[in-house]
Amino acid sequence: MTFAAAETATRRQAGVIKLHDAAAFAGMRRAGRVTAEALDMLVDLVRPGVTTDAIDRAVFAFAMDHGALPATLYYHGYTRSCCTSINHVVCHGIPSDKPLKEGDIVNIDVTLIVDGWHGDASRMYAVGEIPRRAMRLLEVTHECLELGIAAVRPGATTGHIGEAIQRHAEAERCSVVRDFCGHGLGRLFHDEPNILHYGRAGEGVEMKPGMFFTIEPMINLGRPHVKILSDGWTAVTRDRSLSAQFEHTVAVTETGVEIFTRSPKGLDFPAQPAPPRPALIPAAG
Ligand code: MF3
Ligand code: CO
Ligand code: CO
Repeated sequence: MTFAAAETATRRQAGVIKLHDAAAFAGMRRAGRVTAEALDMLVDLVRPGVTTDAIDRAVFAFAMDHGALPATLYYHGYTRSCCTSINHVVCHGIPSDKPLKEGDIVNIDVTLIVDGWHGDASRMYAVGEIPRRAMRLLEVTHECLELGIAAVRPGATTGHIGEAIQRHAEAERCSVVRDFCGHGLGRLFHDEPNILHYGRAGEGVEMKPGMFFTIEPMINLGRPHVKILSDGWTAVTRDRSLSAQFEHTVAVTETGVEIFTRSPKGLDFPAQPAPPRPALIPAAG
């Protein structure tokens, strides 16, 4: 594994990880923020009866209104502005005219390009009231993402991220999908390195300041195995168990981690109310 200044390396090259400068961080903050705002905008739209096509149109319109381009549009033949993965769909669900129904859980994954920089994030949304076991899966999966992010710091390895996620998921009797991983990104959508959501500390590559990548664990209530449907995109659990995913775009900094796609409104876990801000907690006595 080698490292290269991102200004000098443009294409994806096996085994070469780009290290980014301050201007790139500024670009990623803008792209990450618009992406997070798109996911915030969807919180009020997701409800029973709404089609995933309508969600897709809303993402496209939001991108147009914010000087952004959906990265998935015409990406390897994909023709939508987002992915919508419902219940046992693991990832890459294609928006359709099928309405969401009460009790569904849906991942909406949005990647927006702003001034050439990619912000890539996804969240789980609850459609009306959802079953208890579904809410537990959402909680475990969100905790897995947060634990993975907490493992990011210079000098640690990408294996520290995978271990933190796998340990928590399996302790909660869930499984980690192996067939998809997080990825480097920046001016490219999918770049080196791969970020596995399982493994051991010390495996993978050493993290260095200026690395940009996603962490996007897919966690199943049942077994980890997936299959791809005949549309060539939709990945589902083989045992049809529920699957969930949350994704953030992050950077390795000199001291730890910066999250580019945090919700400005505290809606990173929209199925669950945001904790009250300290200023709003009444003083004791
Ligand atoms: N946004 C997805 C990711 O997290 C990739 C979607 S590619 C598509 O990497 F073509 F399926 F849209
Ligand atoms: Co991604
Ligand atoms: Co994504």
